[in-house]
Amino acid sequence: MYKILTVVGARPHFVKAKMVSEAIARSVQLTEVLLHTGQHYDHALSGAFFEELELPTPQYNLEIGSGRQAWQLGQMILGIDQVIEQEKPDMVIVYGDTNSTAAGAIAAAKNDIPLAHIEAGLREFNKGIPEEVNKLLTDAIADLYFCPTPTGVRNLEMAGITRGVYLVGDVGIDLVSHYLPHIEANLEVLKRFGLQAGQYHLMTCHRASNTNQPEPLRAILEAIAALDYPVLFPIHPRTRQAIASFQLEHLLQKPHIAATGPLGFLDTQSLLRHARMAITDSGGIIKEAYFHRVPAIIIDRQTEWLETVAEGWHQVTGPHTQKILQAIATFIAPATHSNFLGDGHAAEKIARIIESYWLC
Ligand code: UD1
Repeated sequence: MYKILTVVGARPHFVKAKMVSEAIARSVQLTEVLLHTGQHYDHALSGAFFEELELPTPQYNLEIGSGRQAWQLGQMILGIDQVIEQEKPDMVIVYGDTNSTAAGAIAAAKNDIPLAHIEAGLREFNKGIPEEVNKLLTDAIADLYFCPTPTGVRNLEMAGITRGVYLVGDVGIDLVSHYLPHIEANLEVLKRFGLQAGQYHLMTCHRASNTNQPEPLRAILEAIAALDYPVLFPIHPRTRQAIASFQLEHLLQKPHIAATGPLGFLDTQSLLRHARMAITDSGGIIKEAYFHRVPAIIIDRQTEWLETVAEGWHQVTGPHTQKILQAIATFIAPATHSNFLGDGHAAEKIARIIESYWLC
């Protein structure tokens, strides 16, 4: 048996880990120890996902919590290092691009433990983005790279990384595909917010670049305030704090805007699938919107999911009121859809490749 230490810590990890953890559990050669860094600790961002997705309770929770980026990273590395010393895993798995990802990667490399990066190779080519630094660090020291898209493989190639690279598809899409009948049928959640299928916009906003200063956040909120269309806005705690401290609450006091707290995975997917359009800076929502064939206005300055823009499903506006309003008013969905995110079986492929790692 080979022991895998999986490091999770933030909301998108729980979604990505679900299908991979299940594939590992089905393997007769692999066993998994789950470590939660505690980067996300609010029930709505963490515990709710474990309950809804029936994820196993992590054997370790470091309860690191929020703080300055470098402090948070350092605390996580120390905590993960101790668990590695105790558990002596054969491999460490990390997901995506958060601080928990980079911490798991550095702790694994410093203990000379093989490292698998799931959602490898994505780039925004801007080191000012905290997530970009995490991606660069993790991909510089991984041993197995599981890329969700051909673009991921190409980006790694450009960085001189060709060994251990596998194009498997997106593990988040595995999960959405798995729950699709439920997601499609669940109109209850629309009713809860008084929404009609195809007749509202789903908005999310939490990127540091959009929430650390008042100007971008004000520009985004002014755009949705000016819409004459219903908008549902589940608000990340970071954004909630920013709205309060920049005194922007009045921009949400409009009859067409329904603001609420963070929502669970399945409710979010149903709301997204039935939306007319998404307005978002979340990488997860961007790719899920593409899967559901829902147009999206990307209120970030760039995206790592280039294909969704190239195919015409999504448009990047950045946090600019007029650009956002114009994109929403003029958007026409394309007729073609390439399914570039894979076939919904990425997790199974990952488990098989990990099993064969020690045979090489
Ligand atoms: C993190 C990831 C981001 C991911 C997002 C998903 C990094 C650098 N960013 O961003 O890539 O898309 O998770 O949600 O790792 N907070 C709470 N409760 C919590 C967690 C956070 O209130 O449970 C608040 C705190 O004020 C905290 C702030 O949100 O300071 C930011 O949290 P942090 O974990 O640093 O980054 P996210 O914005 O959540």
